[in-house]
Amino acid sequence: MTLEIGVDEAFAQTVGDRLKSIEHRLADSAFGQTPFVTEAASHIINAGGKRLRPMLVVVGAGLHPGASADEIERAAVVVELTHVASLYHDDVMDEADLRRGTESANHRYDNSIAIMIGDFLFARASSIVATLGVEYVALQADTFARLVQGQIAETRGPQAGDDPVGHYLQVVADKTGSLIATSAVFGGMVCGAAPAELRALAAYGEELGAVFQLSDDIIDIASDVTGKTPGTDLREGVPTLPTLLVKAGDDPSDARLRQLLQGQIDDADELAEALRLMRAHPVLTQARVEVERRAQLAKSHLDVLPHGTARDALMELCDQIVSRTA
Ligand code: IPE
Ligand code: IPE
Ligand code: MG
Ligand code: MG
Repeated sequence: MTLEIGVDEAFAQTVGDRLKSIEHRLADSAFGQTPFVTEAASHIINAGGKRLRPMLVVVGAGLHPGASADEIERAAVVVELTHVASLYHDDVMDEADLRRGTESANHRYDNSIAIMIGDFLFARASSIVATLGVEYVALQADTFARLVQGQIAETRGPQAGDDPVGHYLQVVADKTGSLIATSAVFGGMVCGAAPAELRALAAYGEELGAVFQLSDDIIDIASDVTGKTPGTDLREGVPTLPTLLVKAGDDPSDARLRQLLQGQIDDADELAEALRLMRAHPVLTQARVEVERRAQLAKSHLDVLPHGTARDALMELCDQIVSRTA
């Protein structure tokens, strides 16, 4: 999937130019002391990705005129490096072998290298965010703390007395919503947005993050062309909204599926069977309805922002995320 700004050609051109320059900066930030570190750190950066978070910074920065291109680009590099660092770690946690259409770092190198390269990229993000100022440093640090706690909560699963769906939605907010919200807020910060506007960007980003992760979880089941291995969440027994809905139900015709969803699915035939049953199940539609509802909510937070191309583009990004299928 590629994200595109179609609302205004001149704005789209500026955003495109900015993103190109961000690509160069990302490549530069992967340079380490040895060719090996540079190669391993470049591996997932160079594999591409949607660059949603840099896009949010760049678009958000267009809400008010006068933001410095250099600051916009640094802020965008910070959020993408933070994201990529989390992907290196996430693929270790999820034992994933494919990322961005290429071998994951844990598969290509090993778990220890993947973890250390994630740390290295996070350190690079930290030095760049320091050049933006203490408010940026504090927000990035709080965001990363939320993100990793989301990952930890997902790994531990709901504890006694926790509602599984509530737990899952909190995990989604923390592991994904936090950084997507911060990306939008960084955009607002670099263009001098007022506090109420920053709060609106944060609320929009939180919802957009949930929409994004809920869609991603549906796509993990429904699509074969994501650049990741389909059914990874099912294989690892990672709960997602569709599987939680099946588990919460008591339809006898779901008995076999519920049995398959009880834990990890190591057997390839059983995984294929679970994927087939999930793909045909009405919970996928139910989950899509929830995605749509939260997308409307995300867009409603934009009401307080100044009318104009940047606000329209944020609306459009939300629509694209809802309609993505890969
Ligand atoms: C993957 O994020 C992790 C999730 C939060 C679902 P993206 O889907 O933004 O990954 P890239 O950056 O496009 O590879
Ligand atoms: C990724 O979550 C969230 C972070 C990297 C923080 P997932 O494990 O659901 O994402 P994918 O499916 O591997 O991209
Ligand atoms: Mg994963
Ligand atoms: Mg994960």
